[in-house]
Amino acid sequence: MARSGSLAGSTAMGGRRSHGGQAYLLVCLVGVGLLLLAMAEIRHAAASDGAGKGLGVEYKTENEKKSGDGEKYFKYPEKGDEKKGEEKKGEEKKGEEKKGEEKKGGEQQKGEEEKKGEGKGVCNYFRGGPEPSYEKQPKEGEIDYSLYGKEGRACLLRALHAATFEVLDRDKTMAATLLRMSFHDCLTRRDWAKGACDASVLLPREINHPQNENLRRAAPVIYEIRERAAQQCNVVPTKADTIAAAGAASIDWSDLENPEKYGFTIGRRDRNPESRGDNPMTLPLATETLDSNLAKFWASGHLDAHDSTLFTIGGHSIGRSACEHFSFRLNNQTCCRPVDPTLDPRRACKLTQFCRSGDGGEHHGDDGGAEGGRKMSGDGGKTRGEEHKAESGYGGKTHGKEQRRVHFDFITPFKLDTWYFKITLMNKGLLTTDHAFGHDPRTAPYVKFYAHNQQAFDVDYIKAFIKVSLVGINHHKTIVPNNYFYCKTGHQQSAKGFQH
Ligand code: HEM
Repeated sequence: MARSGSLAGSTAMGGRRSHGGQAYLLVCLVGVGLLLLAMAEIRHAAASDGAGKGLGVEYKTENEKKSGDGEKYFKYPEKGDEKKGEEKKGEEKKGEEKKGEEKKGGEQQKGEEEKKGEGKGVCNYFRGGPEPSYEKQPKEGEIDYSLYGKEGRACLLRALHAATFEVLDRDKTMAATLLRMSFHDCLTRRDWAKGACDASVLLPREINHPQNENLRRAAPVIYEIRERAAQQCNVVPTKADTIAAAGAASIDWSDLENPEKYGFTIGRRDRNPESRGDNPMTLPLATETLDSNLAKFWASGHLDAHDSTLFTIGGHSIGRSACEHFSFRLNNQTCCRPVDPTLDPRRACKLTQFCRSGDGGEHHGDDGGAEGGRKMSGDGGKTRGEEHKAESGYGGKTHGKEQRRVHFDFITPFKLDTWYFKITLMNKGLLTTDHAFGHDPRTAPYVKFYAHNQQAFDVDYIKAFIKVSLVGINHHKTIVPNNYFYCKTGHQQSAKGFQH
């Protein structure tokens, strides 16, 4: 009895237990369900407002990341990845250590953060001084001096310049790409209004556009320069300032003077990263008429015939073009009789041979280009192989095939000087648009003038650059900087407040 009773009891108990178990299971399931819902909600919130809060990070789903071309260009490839990797590995010990350090070193800063009630990851100190108070709405077209404070501005100008020089010493072909990037950032028109230097060129719609194909290689460089400057100065420069300052330093590196001597400075807010970015088709095109391109220059930045000629032909005195932008001028059958009779037959022949060979190799000037660039000391640049690698690493390919690139200026390809003005007058300019500048009565006088006036070119080019670097800055679609402080926590530098 006792047994059966106990058995019965046990069965009864078992029955009760199983009811209790079911109820317990139900509670668990509901709990898990709620948790999952909450997590999905949080993820959704982060995805929808994260981009707006940060410095233009494009948050993407895993699928988008896999398929999205632009993704790799929107983060600094080395440091961030390392950090992410560490986090992923879940090395708790390290995490705890880090936390400990942050606690120790960042107490004062944390306290201030809490006091102000501001968001996470913001360091409310600036080199020991107070946080600059930002202008509510700066005037469009004018530098926002409230961004970094006097000391921060001076420090960043120095640091951005030095970091760009380091990059250029590593890869001399980058000077032209950085200069071109600053031009494309500033003159891409907003909703058919004027252009603006607001880092919109880094937004997916712009950087992934065919017009910017070869500029993609400069995007990680911009992030690298920005982070180095931030580390040095404890304040993160805006992306718009980084692009403009990298352009200015590239001018200096390419043998002109430092534009700072002529008034170049920083204080540009970034385009709200939630906006779509602009349409790069508002930029001048190599296949368009001079009329159309001059109209675009005027509409984008109020650049007249003089500014446009000086800025374009001067700009093309460094850098290269892919064959596809001028190959329609050539003749594959009889190279010395180009389809475009305005192109010098000797240059046409060399270009035809070079572009036809299409082995994807690097090229140092089709007509025996000299090295050029007074500041190109040291190793004299990269070997063919190295340069080629640098090229193909970031968008050297077009439509899956390797692009051959030719220096516009085959005499001094790394020097911003007047040689390309002369080359254009000799009918040896690469693009039809370059030729047009040199031969149209509205623009030819300027080409002739600068061809023989290096001194005037030196000063005027820098002034034109500065004019362009201010176009439409700090317009209403730019945002007040957020998380712009690079924090030092204890002995360790923390990337708190620094996003890409
Ligand atoms: C009518 C106006 C212009 C047209 C049609 C034009 C067109 C082009 C084209 C097709 C390329 C070759 C792109 C490639 O294959 O990667 C190029 C390169 C370049 N452009 Fe222009 N451009 C114009 C104005 C300007 C201006 C105003 C600047 C001033 C900064 C400039 C600076 C450069 C530089 C430095 C490169 C070389 C880029 C590199 O080597 O990565 N261009 N341009």
